[in-house]
Amino acid sequence: MTEQSRYDELVSRITQANIDYHRDDAPTISDADYDAMRGELARLLDARPDLASGDGSPLDKVGGPLAEGFGRITHALPMLSLANAFDTVDVTEFVASVGAEQDILAEPKIDGLALSLRYVNGLLVHAATRGDGAVGEDVTLNAREITDIPQKLPSWAPDLIEVRGEVYMSHAVFADLNADAAAGKGRAFANPRNAAAGSMRQLDPSITRARSLSFFAYGWGEVESSLSETQFGAMKLIEMLGFKVNPLLKICKGAADLDAHYQVIQQARAGLGYDIDGVVYKVDDLAVQERLGFRSTTPRWAVAHKFPAEKAWTRLEAIEIQVGRTGALSPVARLQPVTVGGVLVSNATLHNLDYIRGRSSDGSEIRGGVDLREGDWVEIYRAGDVIPKVGAVDITKRPGTSRAYEFPDRCPSCGALAITDKSVTYCSGGLTCPDQIVERLKHLVSKPALDIDGMGAEAVIELCEAGLISEPADIFRLKDSLGVDGLAAREGWGVQSAARLLTSIEAARTRPLSRVICALGIRRVGQNTARDLANAFLTWERFAGVMEGLCLDHSLAGIRVAKAMAASGASAQKMETEAWSIVARETIGVEGIGPEAARYLALAFSRKGDLSRIEALASEMTVTAMEAPKTVGAVAGMTIVFTGGLERIGRNEVKEIAERHGAKASGSVSAKTSLVVAGPGAGSKLAKARDLGIRVISEQEFFDLIES
Ligand code: IVH
Repeated sequence: MTEQSRYDELVSRITQANIDYHRDDAPTISDADYDAMRGELARLLDARPDLASGDGSPLDKVGGPLAEGFGRITHALPMLSLANAFDTVDVTEFVASVGAEQDILAEPKIDGLALSLRYVNGLLVHAATRGDGAVGEDVTLNAREITDIPQKLPSWAPDLIEVRGEVYMSHAVFADLNADAAAGKGRAFANPRNAAAGSMRQLDPSITRARSLSFFAYGWGEVESSLSETQFGAMKLIEMLGFKVNPLLKICKGAADLDAHYQVIQQARAGLGYDIDGVVYKVDDLAVQERLGFRSTTPRWAVAHKFPAEKAWTRLEAIEIQVGRTGALSPVARLQPVTVGGVLVSNATLHNLDYIRGRSSDGSEIRGGVDLREGDWVEIYRAGDVIPKVGAVDITKRPGTSRAYEFPDRCPSCGALAITDKSVTYCSGGLTCPDQIVERLKHLVSKPALDIDGMGAEAVIELCEAGLISEPADIFRLKDSLGVDGLAAREGWGVQSAARLLTSIEAARTRPLSRVICALGIRRVGQNTARDLANAFLTWERFAGVMEGLCLDHSLAGIRVAKAMAASGASAQKMETEAWSIVARETIGVEGIGPEAARYLALAFSRKGDLSRIEALASEMTVTAMEAPKTVGAVAGMTIVFTGGLERIGRNEVKEIAERHGAKASGSVSAKTSLVVAGPGAGSKLAKARDLGIRVISEQEFFDLIES
């Protein structure tokens, strides 16, 4: 690879990582890999400054692109980033560069989201995220929901002061949030930092309130007059103004002293109850800070001494295949158990065959293109601390007898042929596969589906293994096939628990169409798609009727496509997709349902598929119809685009309200748009609406309109 192409690759990967992390709150690589790529890019640019293109390297940029829907706030003083130190050599260099005699304040680096809070005459006037360093997102309404952030300062406070610090989520709050998500209430986050960032950067302040965020102040932006002569003095003053300042601040002198406090903080880390990812060192004397000044994106008077990534080496004992609900065969690494960052890890995800072979889905190399084999010595890391991953392989320790991993061509559970479709391999056994049966039934009883209280995964597995249930309808037949006494007689059950379960199964006989569609567990038809389908078809009869006709429609569409494309030499695959696109568009006609979902729906509702099981389930249930959207009313029949910030409720809710009033919510402005509801921060969509002469109203006017 030439240096230029390596440079281009690093730039594009770092840019994408910035978008994933900063804008989408969903990191795709570990912090350590990110830092390593930046390090490599910096070294490359040192040696070959000519490689840089006109728009600068990502090393000169802070943060990432801004999320949509928020107003923009231009920072009075830019919000910068910190240079990193990874070892004692880096720290010694930093100390030498600022002067060995300087007092240096050492403090934990909080792993959260930077916030700048502006107070005028003692009142919080706005709160902004860091954004790209120059312009941040206006998150004032959300900041007002954080109890650590004072709304009002004492009377002696400066007339103008910007306090800067980090919003974070404690481990306790994070655990509750993810427990709720596991139970089907809300979204799960990979780690507390993403959860904090995601909670701050959503448009409904009541969600921020419910998520109990915390805040530590660590600095300031614009101030009307100097706060103190030292960093430490200024932080004490900010503490007296009513802000939380981290208790682990300490003045140090010299690299050895800094290292000692680094060790203290590292020791304290596990017991803090919130995430920190290093220790920040800041020159204490503010006059010296001013003299040292800034580089393009980082101060010369401070550095972040990062903790090493949470990693450990162990043996990959075996690669096993897990069968998922939709039959996806996922390889899992069984590991010799090892502690990674305080947690005992014995499994790691391996995604798919490409991943095992050392390739990502776009064909680029991962782990330098090295494949994974049973018996390999591998490095495990926890990216954002949930699912452990395999980071690297030590090829020198590979046993001489090892062989490249071969993905099974049959399902390990039922022996049916395995079929690969776009890098995912599926078991073709459908509901004859015991593992798929269990996974589907687990899904059927889960919260977003039929929500059968008291029927967890363990009960499903037990009843499946005992041969008491094997298809959805069997759950509703338990009352007759087994009865309270039969269930109570089983090991681990009593009369009370048996009666309770059968009562909740009875209650689950009546469920709205949206949940029943979701409960079917069809590939590509998750909770949201199920809701869209339900809202379009309203009753079970209409939904099932159309679905049962899909296969026939597909054949007809296939003929049409074949005729149209006969001369063009299109591939069979392309014609197939085109035929399903026609079915999706013309027969189903629900936005968001594409050729893939259409194909899986058709398959499920075919004689070859699950139709008889679906019919059996439906005959046991009372599927309640969805509320029909209004066909009269001020917005009925309109196509509405919501853009900019919303103050009253979240974006999904407002879309639902619009749909219930008979309108269609769309994401982009076009000639078909009837109405644009624009809030603070609206940008290009608003401009386009104006260009096209489309009516634009405020959120308040929208509510007035539908209530009229
Ligand atoms: S001082 C000029 N102190 O780390 C920037 N930053 O990697 C001065 N951070 O954007 C920042 N804890 O969001 C400072 N005790 C601390 C910090 C801290 C966390 C964050 C901050 C900053 C990022 C830089």
